[in-house]
Amino acid sequence: LVGADGEGFYTRVDVVDETTSTNADLLAAAADGGDRQVLLAEYQNGGRGRHSRSWNGVPGAQVIVSVLLRLSDCPLQNLGWLPLLCGIATVDAVREVTGVPAQLKWPNDVLVEGRKLAGILVEVASTSPEPVVVAGIGINVTLERDDLPVPTATSLLLENAADLDRTRLAEALLAGFGDRIRAWARAGWDTAELAAAYREHCSTIGLAVRAILPGDTELRGVAVDVDDQGRIVIRPDTGGAPVAVAAGDITHLR
Ligand code: BTN
Repeated sequence: LVGADGEGFYTRVDVVDETTSTNADLLAAAADGGDRQVLLAEYQNGGRGRHSRSWNGVPGAQVIVSVLLRLSDCPLQNLGWLPLLCGIATVDAVREVTGVPAQLKWPNDVLVEGRKLAGILVEVASTSPEPVVVAGIGINVTLERDDLPVPTATSLLLENAADLDRTRLAEALLAGFGDRIRAWARAGWDTAELAAAYREHCSTIGLAVRAILPGDTELRGVAVDVDDQGRIVIRPDTGGAPVAVAAGDITHLR
């Protein structure tokens, strides 16, 4: 994974036993000029989730990993695709290593038959002179039912994964993620190929959904696509023009 000139994408990979949050650690490291840096932890005691939620687990039972990246020249309006790219890479690694049929719920919850297996949090350290981001991924590997934070979560163990080797899973995830970032940069940060891959991995498109929009308004309709900024496009039940939703909580209704 680590090496120069095409041999490996990353400049360093660190593993720690315990930390507060691997995302927080790499956000702090961003100021020192690091790039393509990976931090894995056996356990986080202050893991961060989306929408200011917490993300904690049991020591040794998850893959907990963050990647610090400088996306030089990436236009800011394309940055919204990074969380979706992380989702694609996570689903691919889970399917490849464990055989578990994971899918994405927009934007990037990794689900198995509606239960949450993995979560992704992308945080922006700075945007000038170039976007500097930390992509954090947590995958539930050997959590037992009683260890789950919520009853709607799951783990690879509970989904009868063919392989529960966390190292193999983390390696596949980081290799696939690096490949996708490289391909995206080579494509000049164009999003057409990413969008095509995303549609193949996302179970939300085609479903009836409820979205809670900023300002707490509710939108019910059918998710019909993702647009060129990675927003989910919803055709309202009440009729009218499709609405592109950039942020917020989506519920699958059937
Ligand atoms: C979510 O679904 O709410 C996102 C969860 C993201 C958890 C990962 S674990 C590694 C990284 N470090 C953090 O503090 N959070 C992310």
